[in-house]
Amino acid sequence: MKSFEFKNPTKIIFGEGEIKKLSDNIPAGSHVLLAYGGGSIKKNSVYDQVIEACKNFKITEFSGIEPNPHFETLMKAVEIIRDEKIDFILAVGGGSVIDGCKFLSAAAFYDGDEWDLVAKGLSRKQERVLPFGTVLTLPATGSEMNSGAVVTKAATQEKRTFGGPQYFPVFSICDPTVIKSLPKRQIANGVVDAFTHTLEQYLTYKHDALLQDRIAEGILQTLIEIGPKVMEDPSDYKAASNFMWSATMALNGILRLGVPTDWATHMIAHELTALHGIDHARTLAIIAPNLYRKLFDNKKEKLVQYGKRVWGLSGESDIEIAEKAIEMTVTFFQSLGIDTKLSDYTDDYKDTAQTVSDRFTERKWLGLGETQKVGPDLAKEIVEMSI
Ligand code: NZQ
Ligand code: ZN
Repeated sequence: MKSFEFKNPTKIIFGEGEIKKLSDNIPAGSHVLLAYGGGSIKKNSVYDQVIEACKNFKITEFSGIEPNPHFETLMKAVEIIRDEKIDFILAVGGGSVIDGCKFLSAAAFYDGDEWDLVAKGLSRKQERVLPFGTVLTLPATGSEMNSGAVVTKAATQEKRTFGGPQYFPVFSICDPTVIKSLPKRQIANGVVDAFTHTLEQYLTYKHDALLQDRIAEGILQTLIEIGPKVMEDPSDYKAASNFMWSATMALNGILRLGVPTDWATHMIAHELTALHGIDHARTLAIIAPNLYRKLFDNKKEKLVQYGKRVWGLSGESDIEIAEKAIEMTVTFFQSLGIDTKLSDYTDDYKDTAQTVSDRFTERKWLGLGETQKVGPDLAKEIVEMSI
């Protein structure tokens, strides 16, 4: 196993009805910015529970953080934070709201062009940040227990990642009953996003971190088991709670310890959202299978292990098991109602592969993935295969 250091300071408060514990976890006397999205929390009682639990705090609201949060929208909240002297942010929503609040945390005390925090990676150097907590409403991204985020600059159609150890939430309240109001589309997105986060840290090459592999396989098997159940009945608490915890565990830093990781699927897929507005998880379902096909020789041993241990495949040659494992993955995504080709989502794909390739070149992304093979040319070929 490779050497590693690990610190995850986020306190997780998990279970039905736990939103009431907000009052014990927000620092006393804080002026809180309550940040949320397009209003789903007002239709499902989450907003009411939050307001009740925060009645002893001074609250200023900021709503309208959109899916794939826009830098331009977030800058309006940064102004409020500075004008109102906010000292704690409460993110109530899915990955977009939480990621947006990570940007607010970074930008609050930054004196310069705030986009540089993202595009130039300056968020990592920012010493003074605003603390924040979250109430998670959509299991998917793991943002509630990690220190990364993704923000989009609408003006230039750029979707970029940023982060740093300063951006762990102080706490996250994870009440699995909140998923009852999720549209099926978002539940399917959550399952596929969590599944792909696990694969990014598992489908690489053989290594010695046996426990990491077993934890990853446990998450994959749990998602395969409960994915169809949460789609069918999101009020099934057993399924909902296992869904929520699997999504958190898939990207809270545990899986990557001591192992090689890939993440090239995500970096290519973010471009499809930036260019075509396709939901994040769906872009992963478009790219991941073709990236595995293209890098088949590098990933073959782990694909065989994945096929045998996760999908229970046996009896065929290793090559057939590895190929079948990719097909089973595609079938699983499709069974959740997720289309797996770019052309299923847009007719405007003529220039997409070249644009993605050009962006890789501009950003000097010449060798992503666990074997540093994914550069501009391979990214182009993978997108072409995915049309
Ligand atoms: O805006 P509202 O009205 O709240 O509606 C949202 C939004 O329309 C709705 N929703 C959320 N909870 C709901 C609900 N509707 C009904 N009931 C509820 N309980 O769902 C829609 C999508 O929300 P969003 O937050 O955009 O989804 P998700 O959690 O999938 O987040 C996606 C974003 O996270 C980034 C993605 O790139 C994308 O920008 N990611 C963040 C990561 C991280 N920080 O570690 C890792 C991921 O790989 C990902 O890149
Ligand atoms: Zn993701």
